[in-house]
Amino acid sequence: MSIIVKNLGKTYSIPVKKSGIKGTLSHFFNRNYRQVEAVKNISFIIEPGEIVGFLGANGAGKTTTLKMLSGLIYPSEGEVRIAGYTPFRRQPQFLQKTSLVMGQKQQLLWDLPTLDSLRINGAVYKIPDKIFKQRLQELSQMLSIEDKLTQPVRKLSLGERMKAELLAALLHNPQVLFLDEPTLGLDINAQVAVRKFLQDYNQRYQSTILLTSHYMADITALCKRVLLIHQGQLIYDGDLEKIFAKFSPYRQVNVELANSISADRLANYGNVETIDGQAVRFLVKQENLIAMINCILDQLEVIDLNITDPSIEEIIGHIFKTNSI
Ligand SMILES: Nc1ncnc2c1ncn2[C@@H]1O[C@H](COP(=O)(O)OP(=O)(O)OP(=O)(O)O)[C@@H](O)[C@H]1O
Ligand SMILES: [Mg+2]
Repeated sequence: MSIIVKNLGKTYSIPVKKSGIKGTLSHFFNRNYRQVEAVKNISFIIEPGEIVGFLGANGAGKTTTLKMLSGLIYPSEGEVRIAGYTPFRRQPQFLQKTSLVMGQKQQLLWDLPTLDSLRINGAVYKIPDKIFKQRLQELSQMLSIEDKLTQPVRKLSLGERMKAELLAALLHNPQVLFLDEPTLGLDINAQVAVRKFLQDYNQRYQSTILLTSHYMADITALCKRVLLIHQGQLIYDGDLEKIFAKFSPYRQVNVELANSISADRLANYGNVETIDGQAVRFLVKQENLIAMINCILDQLEVIDLNITDPSIEEIIGHIFKTNSI
């Protein structure tokens, strides 16, 4: 099931309205539109069984692309072929083979137990009863939510809800999976569980997965290859290692100091990324982390300290700054 994308583009027409009542009236009779080129001329091929990370800053065009690939919206230009199908025709055979999961949108019905929504999906996709049961058992075990299926969705935790969404999206055994921020807003444990599940699922069924995430850890755990999109254009398609290896061993150390200290003095402790009053962020290599923190705690008056991974946006920002593509 390969995914072939050729010169794909999407331009949205957005109505623009002048302010005031006059503007509203003239808008009503004579609409003006502004064009937004969300995706411009992108091409790539994904082979069956690959997991590819789709990266880009906010508004880069990731969701728009995924919507075109899954047939939710029409492309303005170019074409998409998935196992020979054109997504926006939404032929039943195409829908059987693909699934789109959006972290910020839910398909399960809020007041119903997950199981009821799953039964509806089973009927929509015409899954035979025996296969439905098998699939349900297998997936709910892999996701460890067997005991939550009879609870109304609104009573599930965020992580459990995402697992239930994945279960619903995978019930019909799609071979191609589009995931738009499947770990959005989840706590660390739930993020790890979803990540682990996707890894197992891909290995067990050799499904093809295209995934966006704002968490670098998702991408490093799952994807060997990444596509990098910037202002609608594809600017990198290749090994994750090649562009990100330089950044993945780094951690951010965020320190809140009791008093302001000069940038010069702070530079003694490590690479200062930002200073905002008494809040300082250092970028530190993993291997120097402990020594550096000990040094800071020893020599400076610290109110608070925590360690984070650089976000994908920050890493992309670094790549542009250092022109390292
Ligand atoms: N339905 C729409 N109508 C008009 N413009 C849109 C629509 N959907 C997206 N856009 C615009 O298209 C551009 C790309 O948006 P898109 O949602 O694809 O970005 P994204 O990479 O998914 O960003 P994020 O990381 O924030 O989810 C943005 O400028 C956005 O404002
Ligand atoms: Mg998006």
